[in-house]
Amino acid sequence: MKRIAVLTSGGDAPGMNAAIRAVVRTGLAYGCTVFGVKHGYRGLIEDDMREMGARDVGGIIQMGGTVLGSARCPEFKTDEGRQTALANLRNRGIEGLIVIGGNGSQSGAYELTKLGFPVVGVASTIDNDLFGSDITIGVDTALNISLEAIDRLKVTASSHRRAFVVEVMGRDSGYLALMAALAGGAEAAVIPEREIPPEQIAQTLREAYDRGKTNGIIVVAEGATYNAERLGQFFKDHQDTLGFELRVTILGHVQRGGTPGAFDRILATRLAAKATKCLYEGEHGVLIGWLKGAAMPTPYPEVVGKHKPLDLELLKLADVLAQ
Ligand code: ADP
Ligand code: F6P
Repeated sequence: MKRIAVLTSGGDAPGMNAAIRAVVRTGLAYGCTVFGVKHGYRGLIEDDMREMGARDVGGIIQMGGTVLGSARCPEFKTDEGRQTALANLRNRGIEGLIVIGGNGSQSGAYELTKLGFPVVGVASTIDNDLFGSDITIGVDTALNISLEAIDRLKVTASSHRRAFVVEVMGRDSGYLALMAALAGGAEAAVIPEREIPPEQIAQTLREAYDRGKTNGIIVVAEGATYNAERLGQFFKDHQDTLGFELRVTILGHVQRGGTPGAFDRILATRLAAKATKCLYEGEHGVLIGWLKGAAMPTPYPEVVGKHKPLDLELLKLADVLAQ
């Protein structure tokens, strides 16, 4: 395979640039011509792509976001959209594609493989909800940003003897919330995988207050039924039962825009280099993820549509540690 393309799709994740760099430079080392596609699947449909050289990916390894741009592209979910994308790839003589992205992006990649086009995926999303990868590109950086925020909120909370509801991203997954709660020393994590009634969370806060704690942190996943808005409203209506005065902080996209740390740069580099090798050697229709300490391929049918389970024992551990 001599002509390949790379795109980034879905939510940007810190480390995507390191992955683009690794695809371009390992591709060149194999003697391939490498095309960069702008704005994910939209660039495929609009034929917005150009050849990339080693200098085009210079100075990007330390940058968050994606120099190729990303997009949510509903047109790619239609057969017509995918046929247009395929025609554009074939017109340029491109023989294979690397898709750097999360759950949705890899579903799109699988659809393209079903039309007979060679694709290899690279597991990249801050949500860490991709089957076939123990950890995905961007998670570590996003988590560290959440922790920095939680640490700061604890400082101000302690000064006023307040509790904070802190909402983190994750879409339908509670991974970021659970890990931020564990590493941030929170009183509780509220996650979609195991919902807790708001009365129970209020009681947890009250007990922490009665034990003499100077602050209380509840980390909620945006996908939980009682997200920041609903839990915040419930607590407002039951303020007298909490002990602590309450404030609410939603971290949102702040978690996504950070400078990738060492872990994400190395993970992205290794996953993307392996993906390029696989595509070049003709092993496609797979997602490259991090499994048991190595970059490993998993066939798309075993990845797409699956839900990666959370280790719910960690909820109990977070409880024990919050005494
Ligand atoms: P992420 O990859 O971060 O999970 P999305 O779920 O928004 O982000 O998916 C990114 C893009 O992937 C979508 O905008 C769409 O273009 C494409 N996509 C998602 N699901 C499918 C699907 N089932 N079929 C084809 N394309 C899809
Ligand atoms: O998938 C990454 C993610 O940041 C989710 O955690 C979040 O639900 C979603 O993307 C936000 O999407 P957007 O950037 O389109 O608002």
